[in-house]
Amino acid sequence: MEAPFCEHKEVKVCYDNRRIILHGGSRLKTILEAKGVTKVYRTGRVDVWALRGIDLNVSQGEFVAIMGPSGCGKSTLLHILGGLTPPSKGEVWLDGVNIGALSDAERTRTRRNKIGFVFQRFNLLPTLSALGNLEIARYIHKNGAGGNGSESSRDLLKILGLENKLRSKPIEMSGGEQQRVALARAVINRPAILLADEPTGNLDSENSQTVLHMLQDLNTRFNQTIILITHNPEVAAVAHRLVEMRDGKIHDRVQDVTYHAAEESFL
Ligand SMILES: Nc1ncnc2c1ncn2[C@@H]1O[C@H](COP(=O)(O)OP(=O)(O)O)[C@@H](O)[C@H]1O
Ligand SMILES: [Mg+2]
Repeated sequence: MEAPFCEHKEVKVCYDNRRIILHGGSRLKTILEAKGVTKVYRTGRVDVWALRGIDLNVSQGEFVAIMGPSGCGKSTLLHILGGLTPPSKGEVWLDGVNIGALSDAERTRTRRNKIGFVFQRFNLLPTLSALGNLEIARYIHKNGAGGNGSESSRDLLKILGLENKLRSKPIEMSGGEQQRVALARAVINRPAILLADEPTGNLDSENSQTVLHMLQDLNTRFNQTIILITHNPEVAAVAHRLVEMRDGKIHDRVQDVTYHAAEESFL
């Protein structure tokens, strides 16, 4: 198989069987950094320690899979990384900005402009077609400027294999197709980072495979940075890095070490 490659401002990167090879001599840009992120949910008398000090660096163009047993804190981490939930302690830096230091309005704007979310449930607007769901997202991003199915919405839906479904409503689409529309909606604004919480969790294995290949394609084609929570080992196998969580902590970072070792050896 041909090794996918991508090129961005700073450095040319080849991903070959999870090894990252750098050409150009400059360090990969860190797009997201979590420092000592802790989350305690205070529910009545009992405190739930969902996260116990998470440090995580994600580079531009990286595809990171997070795995771990139910209840270990994966969704909480993703919500904090995306600025949906504040941490109890620690910081999240997104593209050089400490999102905890922003006002609510600034954080909402940052989230809207820089982050795409995909969840297990597709959350499409039921009365709108595939194209309509994309256009409304584009409309919101652009604060009102929109059209009746702009070229890039159509192109994106075509890339995701939905050229025959542009005018279909969610009810007329399979689960896999709906999730691909949700994926298109999440990346329509070219977010700095795509956060996906078990996006294949509601899909059969064939549709999971398709969505997985679409994620991989978005990653290589657009250098889309992705953090993906999954229980599916096949999904994790296509990522560049696997982060395993246990009990609110990152459990195993062997591949992280490999990643940085590869990076360092080319500097
Ligand atoms: N809003 C909340 N209020 C109280 N406890 C919560 C809340 N959200 C999650 N938790 C608890 O935090 C822990 C981590 O949950 P979660 O992040 O959803 O884990 P995962 O996504 O890995 O299944 C669990 O014990 C869960 O019950
Ligand atoms: Mg979860």
